[in-house]
Amino acid sequence: MGEIGTSYDAAAAAWRAGPERMYARMAEAMAEHAPVDVAAARVLDAGAGTGVAGDAMRRRGAGSVVAVDLASAMLPRAPALSTVGDLTRLPFRDGAFDLAVAAFSLNHFTDPVPPMIELRRVAGALVASSYAPEWAHPAKDAVDEVLARHGFETPEWYAVARADANPGPGDLAGCAERAGFTEVWSDVVDVDTGMRSAVDLVAWRLGMAHTAPFVAALAPDERLRVRDEAEAVVDGMPPLVVAMVVLTALR
Ligand SMILES: C[S@@+](CC[C@H](N)C(=O)[O-])C[C@H]1O[C@@H](n2cnc3c(N)ncnc32)[C@H](O)[C@@H]1O
Repeated sequence: MGEIGTSYDAAAAAWRAGPERMYARMAEAMAEHAPVDVAAARVLDAGAGTGVAGDAMRRRGAGSVVAVDLASAMLPRAPALSTVGDLTRLPFRDGAFDLAVAAFSLNHFTDPVPPMIELRRVAGALVASSYAPEWAHPAKDAVDEVLARHGFETPEWYAVARADANPGPGDLAGCAERAGFTEVWSDVVDVDTGMRSAVDLVAWRLGMAHTAPFVAALAPDERLRVRDEAEAVVDGMPPLVVAMVVLTALR
């Protein structure tokens, strides 16, 4: 499964306690852009994590939602149908879905074209999201510095993902066209995630897949110290408003 999948598996509990809330807000904003009628649609939640994008589609009347992810511990329980799988080798027949949603999963690929080709094989349309390349929040570096004082080293898979800057709307649109999609549209939208307090910001940073396994392995008293120190450094920082790239495309 590789380091990404094992890291997300190890982070699943902390993810549900922090990042899940912000990703749910971002999924709602992404769902507004679905390029086909969602009512009664067969939806694939691709790189589903805890399934917030599928939930957003279900709230819009999707007929069925299937969630697929590398990390079994992240996957939602009922009412979604969940399966472990890799976005480059999906265990579904051609055209099995009307719409694939890929919320913050294609940014895990150095080259998003292969998973896009696979999504186009199984679904008639795509809506995807990613962080805008220029987007940043000061809590990221501030909490990383606290973690580093306690011995944290950025895992290689995350460092590699960071070195390849997040794709901008034009980059993602170009990938979709190379994957064979038509009617490609992409833009940046700002999403207020509702995460504003120091507790929220730290729950976000300590619940991410590259930090949560490190934090979980600390002794309980050190884990408390890390949280207290992190909350002190982010206190008074701006609310978490994310610049999100949204991509839509049709087969
Ligand atoms: C940032 S999380 C986003 C999860 C969810 N879509 C959301 O919006 O909350 C990225 C997810 O993509 C999954 N993922 C990364 N690479 C994958 C791959 N090759 N195949 C399937 N899932 C993958 C990870 O396991 C993780 O759950």
